Amino acid sequence: MKATITLLPGDGIGPEIVDATRQVLDAVGTRFGHSFVYSRQLIGGAAIDETGTALPDDTIGSCRSSNATLLGAVGGPRWDDPKAKVRPEQGLLGMRKALGLYANVRPVKCFAGLEDASPLRPERLRDVDLVFVRELTGGIYFGEPKGKDTHDGQRRGFDTMVYTEHEIRRIVEMACAIARKRKKHVTSIDKANVLATMQVWREVATEVFRENADIHFDHQLVDSAAMRLVTDPGAFDVIVAGNMFGDILSDEGAVLTGSLGLLPSASLGEGKRGVYEPIHGSAPDIAGKGIANPLGTVLSAAMLLRLSLDLDAEATAVERAVARAIADGLRTRDLGGGDASLSTIAMAEAVIERLEREG
Ligand SMILES: NC(=O)c1ccc[n+]([C@@H]2O[C@H](COP(=O)([O-])OP(=O)(O)OC[C@H]3O[C@@H](n4cnc5c(N)ncnc54)[C@H](O)[C@@H]3O)[C@@H](O)[C@H]2O)c1
Repeated sequence: MKATITLLPGDGIGPEIVDATRQVLDAVGTRFGHSFVYSRQLIGGAAIDETGTALPDDTIGSCRSSNATLLGAVGGPRWDDPKAKVRPEQGLLGMRKALGLYANVRPVKCFAGLEDASPLRPERLRDVDLVFVRELTGGIYFGEPKGKDTHDGQRRGFDTMVYTEHEIRRIVEMACAIARKRKKHVTSIDKANVLATMQVWREVATEVFRENADIHFDHQLVDSAAMRLVTDPGAFDVIVAGNMFGDILSDEGAVLTGSLGLLPSASLGEGKRGVYEPIHGSAPDIAGKGIANPLGTVLSAAMLLRLSLDLDAEATAVERAVARAIADGLRTRDLGGGDASLSTIAMAEAVIERLEREG
């Protein structure tokens, strides 16, 4: 197949990990007979420096006309002034809005050989293979009214949590579709014992589950879900949550595996187009040194192959090659490689070697 992919390297380690991942995608193209055409565009701080805006029109145009987008990371100390009118994160938020990306999908899996990197005991990690599906464009982060004022002589802050039936329905339906290709189990997170918004969430989720009778489901309050994530993480398959609860729980889930550098994500909306990126930031402390772990981005590219291009076998081949490289003891510095640590490019080459050998 022929596909166009927009590359948004962004800031910090972004260009290093995106360039390394592009090599892996090229190897997939050669191995499986596909042609990937890339459009490299600006976002974040790099875009601010060059164009004065974090999300130039050319970038959005390219994302809209491509099959999918692969992003590195944005931000860094250079653009950190909280009072600045133009900030790197505006690039991410603007892109989600412009492309209608309402779901963030984050798989969390424990790789054989990395059990020691986790803060949890190895026996708790054995079965960890779960996916967070977080609603991205609604909930308390966006509800109105929000603001700060003075009331009865007291400073006061307020936000509004609001979800419509449509927003709940589409995210729970997406969770069911993802679960259908996995263990067919969805856990819906809410706080229905206290919040009216979450009572509606539970009602609508229950209706969607009834329409998807092949999916085993349960509802869990966010507080007990937070506990269960560390006491029995292997019990989960797909976890669907609103914006704030999903934000908090998915970060808790990220530390289960012990390595930020390994975890991929996808932001999805209607249709096949998506934006794929590692969950970590731009790691300014190691930028430019060639030592960043590229595997979170490589695994994001695997998600891109599967979800936007329908290339399931190719995605699985990339995931297997990554797992094999880790099982073979290959480590970047963040994975505890010590003096024998691989560089960013050497790690990508190790994945390519295994892809060519076994893919
Ligand atoms: N989606 C995004 O683009 C995104 C997400 C989070 C943070 N940020 C931005 O990134 C900047 C730095 O944020 P932070 O330091 O809080 O988080 P970070 O994820 O960039 O870094 C946290 C720690 O993890 C390490 N790390 C992260 N990714 C790594 C990788 N691939 N390989 C090896 N080590 C890695 C870093 O060196 C650092 O020590 C900030 O400007 C922040 O706003 C961007």
